[in-house]
This record gives sequence, structure tokens and C-alpha cells, in this order.
Amino acid sequence: MGVERKWLFTLFTVAFLSLTFLFLSSFSIFTSSKPLPSFVHHGSHYPPAFAYFITGGNGDKNRIFRLLLAIYHPRNRYLLHLGMDASDKERQGLAAAVISVPAIRAFGNADVVGNADYVTHLGSSNVAITLRAAAIMMKLDSGWNWFVTLSARDYPLITQDDLSHVFSTVRRDLNFIEHTGDLGWKESDRFQPIVVDPGTYLARRSQIFQATQKRKTPDAFKLFTGSQWVILSRSFLEFCLFGWDNLPRKLLMYFTNVKLSQEGYFHSVICNAPEFKNTTVNGDLRYMIWDNPPQMEPHALNVSVYGQMVESGAAFARQFDADDPVLDMIDKKILQRGRNQVVPGAWCSGQRSWWVDPCSQWGDVNILKPGSQAKKLEESVSVLLDDWNSQTNQCQTSGE
Ligand SMILES: *[C@@H]1O[C@H](CO)[C@@H](O)[C@H](O)[C@H]1NC(C)=O
Ligand SMILES: *[C@@H]1O[C@H](CO)[C@@H](O)[C@H](O)[C@H]1NC(C)=O
Repeated sequence: MGVERKWLFTLFTVAFLSLTFLFLSSFSIFTSSKPLPSFVHHGSHYPPAFAYFITGGNGDKNRIFRLLLAIYHPRNRYLLHLGMDASDKERQGLAAAVISVPAIRAFGNADVVGNADYVTHLGSSNVAITLRAAAIMMKLDSGWNWFVTLSARDYPLITQDDLSHVFSTVRRDLNFIEHTGDLGWKESDRFQPIVVDPGTYLARRSQIFQATQKRKTPDAFKLFTGSQWVILSRSFLEFCLFGWDNLPRKLLMYFTNVKLSQEGYFHSVICNAPEFKNTTVNGDLRYMIWDNPPQMEPHALNVSVYGQMVESGAAFARQFDADDPVLDMIDKKILQRGRNQVVPGAWCSGQRSWWVDPCSQWGDVNILKPGSQAKKLEESVSVLLDDWNSQTNQCQTSGE
């Protein structure tokens, strides 16, 4: 654990150093005695927990912090990555903001990656940072069940109590990966060109390099493509990171030279692995509005699409402009989250009033109180699971 930990701004350490001061100051603010945090329980008899990996770049500190507050729960684990284009000062600022939240300080379950990586939008460094994040979170926390990828431009449409409640009835080996084996225009546009990502070998940021030659579509394995925003089971990630089967490594080497490899790597690994293929649910539980044909990024969402967004039954939506008013609407109507406060859940035991953060005090963190949006998410998950049961929409290649 030592090596990895050294590179994180480990919030526990920071908390310990500043403990005396923070402890005293919090007591002078909250005169009622604060109950000690009860134990965090994981395992099959308890609600599932999530490991969130949030990525952003230069200038995304505040967005990442706001997103963290909106998806916070003491039973989860969080890893925040500000790419190497952001300054160390911004990274330290993010760590300081995180540690300023009483619950996060006490539970010590959020970390900021200290030695960041370059992330090239079109390149394979995206897959590398995701695998690295999964490896770090596996080492730091044995309790989580699903790994969720988010970016600074995303926001939740559900509370964490909603999410954990709905996933309580989902088999914990299932993976939510929106995918297709029908490559269409992507075959010649994404898979046949050979690209090289300088983020993997140059110390400064630059554009991907594209070879003039193209290569054949592989026939040793089948290619799948889809949404880069995934919810992966712990067991599937163990297979990708530590498995004795060579498939995940073979595909990683192939995808090193594929444009937007994050839209195909996990999809292709899972659909080519007989022991995991059946665990693929074809959906990403995200709300996005795309052009037809799609541009590089989905539309920016705003208050005019609020209604259809919350009706969609998605767990998360993207993308949003920084501090767009629609985020305040989500905070108020769905999350019931005060400014600079974490999203309240059944674990929060503080009084609800305009000057007190209800989550600055807590009781049992292993109980849930789903809210109004849980029903919507439950419906959309149930549609996806019906689809999964029928196996008609799973790892299918064109012509099958
Ligand atoms: C996956 O599903 C197929 C079709 O129902 C079945 O034949 C196969 O045995 C399953 N594989 C595993 C590993 O469960
Ligand atoms: C709001 O978002 C929708 C969907 O992205 C877009 O079509 C519309 O033009 C936006 N409206 C404003 C006022 O920005």
C-alpha cells in the first residue's frame, strides 16, 4: 500500500495534523455533543457501496468539489483526478476543500491523486488513468461493490440513498456498459486508423499522432464500442487488473493505438470473456442529448430540459456548464442539498435548519432513506434487467 499512498494527498494524514485545531473549532461551533461515527459495514447483508472516479482538467477544481458533495456518502469511496494540465496549487486547493467538510474529514474516504497523469482526449491515456484509479481504490478500500466513472461536467439525478437502495436488488456481479458490436462508421473512423497518444510518453501535453497507414479490423477477437461512462463490478475489474487470463492485457495493447479507446476497451474485454459476457447489462444509466450524427460531446444541459432529464430515470446526466442554474434546481428539488454541504441521507442526524448542515452530525451510516427519484431509477434499471434476462441485446455482433 505504501507506494501508492505516498502519491495521494492522503486526507487522513492532513486531518491528523490539523486535528487539534479542527477538533476544537468544531466543538466551539457545535455545542451539542457529536456522536462518534458508528461502524461502516459492507458485505452482502448491507446496502451496496460505490467507488467513484472523477476526472477533470485545468480549472475544474470547483466543479469536481461540487460534484463530490452531490454524490457523497460515508460508505462510498472517492478518488479525484485533476489532470497534469492543472497546477499543483489547484490540486492542493481541491484537497483542502475536501478536507474542510466535516463528514469527509471524519470518514476519510475521499482522496485527490497527487501525481496526476496527462489526459489526451482522443488518446489511450484515458484507459490508463481509469485502470490506475480502479487499482488505487481496490487497495484503499475492500468494501465497495461498483466502480463508477464521472467527469467534472457530470451531475447526479438521484441521491446516494436512492442509488444504493435501487442497487440493493441488483446482482453484484453485473456490469452496466452501454455497447454495440455493430461498429458502423466507427470501424473505419476509430478502429482502422493507428494513433499514438503522447500523453503516455511525453512530459508535456500535445495532440495525438496519427499514422498515414490504416490497419485491418482484428479477427482474433470481436470489437465492441459504446459509452465511455461505465459502472463496473468489482469482480470484473479484478479480472482486468489481476486476472491470469491474458485477454485484458492483449486488448489493452491493441487499444493503445485506437482513437477514443475509452469507448471500446471495457466493452471489448467483457464481450470477449466467456465468464463475464453474461454479466453485461446494455445501458450506462446516463442522460445525454446527442446531435444526429453525434458530435464529439453531447449538448450542454440547462433548465429547459430539466423535466425530461428527471423523467428519464437516469442516475447521472452530462454535460453541464460550470454552475449552470439547472444544477441549483437539482440541488434544491432532488438532492435537497444546501450550498457547500454534502447531499443529505439517512445517515445525517443533525437538525435541518438554514444555518446547520444536517450532515455535520451522523448516526447509523448503514441505513438508507430513498427519496422521490428512486422510483424513476428503479423503473429504468428494471427495464435494463429485463433486457439483460432475455440476452437478446448483449454482446451481439452485426449479423447475429
Ligand atoms: C451465459 O449464457 C449462455 C446462454 O444462456 C449460457 O449457455 C452460458 O452457460 C452462460 N455462461 C456462464 C459463464 O454463465
Ligand atoms: C438548453 O439545452 C438544450 C439541449 O441541450 C438546447 O437545445 C437549448 O438550445 C438550450 N437552451 C438555452 C437557452 O441555452
